[in-house]
Amino acid sequence: MIAIRLDSADVSRQPLIAPSLLSADFARLADEVVRVADADWLHVDVMDAHFVPNLTLGLPVVRAIQRVSPVPLDCHLMIEDPERWAPGYAEAGARNVTVHAEACTDPRAVARDIRAAGALAGLAIKPGTPLADHLDVLRDFDTLLVMSVEPGFGGQSFIADVLPKVREARRLVDSGELTLLVEIDGGINADTIEQAAEAGVDMFVAGSAVYGADDPATAIAALRAQAAAAMPG
Ligand code: DX5
Ligand code: ZN
Repeated sequence: MIAIRLDSADVSRQPLIAPSLLSADFARLADEVVRVADADWLHVDVMDAHFVPNLTLGLPVVRAIQRVSPVPLDCHLMIEDPERWAPGYAEAGARNVTVHAEACTDPRAVARDIRAAGALAGLAIKPGTPLADHLDVLRDFDTLLVMSVEPGFGGQSFIADVLPKVREARRLVDSGELTLLVEIDGGINADTIEQAAEAGVDMFVAGSAVYGADDPATAIAALRAQAAAAMPG
């Protein structure tokens, strides 16, 4: 398989919206996946009850979602030992597989294995994790996921203190020092998406703001329009 990579054409500064399936009705997963067919990516939160105090779903369910999803999967692995598990999600067909910097002993090796298995490689950092600690390894990643809540649960309040990390990542991408999509996850809704867009986010994860809306498609379109209007340049 030829590994896919982001190049500068992919970093096109269109706002991308990734609904988080965590806020969907898990008893009706296939229907819930199809309800967000006009999203850019579908964000799937994998939690192992060790890295975070919550347990969601794993590889068999991701494989099932992959079969019915009209949009590419963005797997966010909130798990220990990502070295062992991450390549399986790429092999399952996910477009992007994100691991947590705090859980990796060798992030470069994980990125290499994810890419070799056919997906983009993402690195996530928790709200309290400095970006500066991981700048070197980010050259080997395609996406940077800045967590704007403590990972583990949907429906939490946005932590605006993470925005300086977004601004710094944006600066490094715009100057050509990094080639990656800047993604934000947690508390993104109509009240917060503009400040995230102004700071330089490319990809906006939204769980409760999309699945909690009467019509997810309308919510996605509204968030995309708000972000586009607020993006610099
Ligand atoms: C939290 C998850 C998020 C969550 C976002 O650990 O990583 O993806 O689903 O949900 P909202 O948008 O409701 O904060
Ligand atoms: Zn997530």
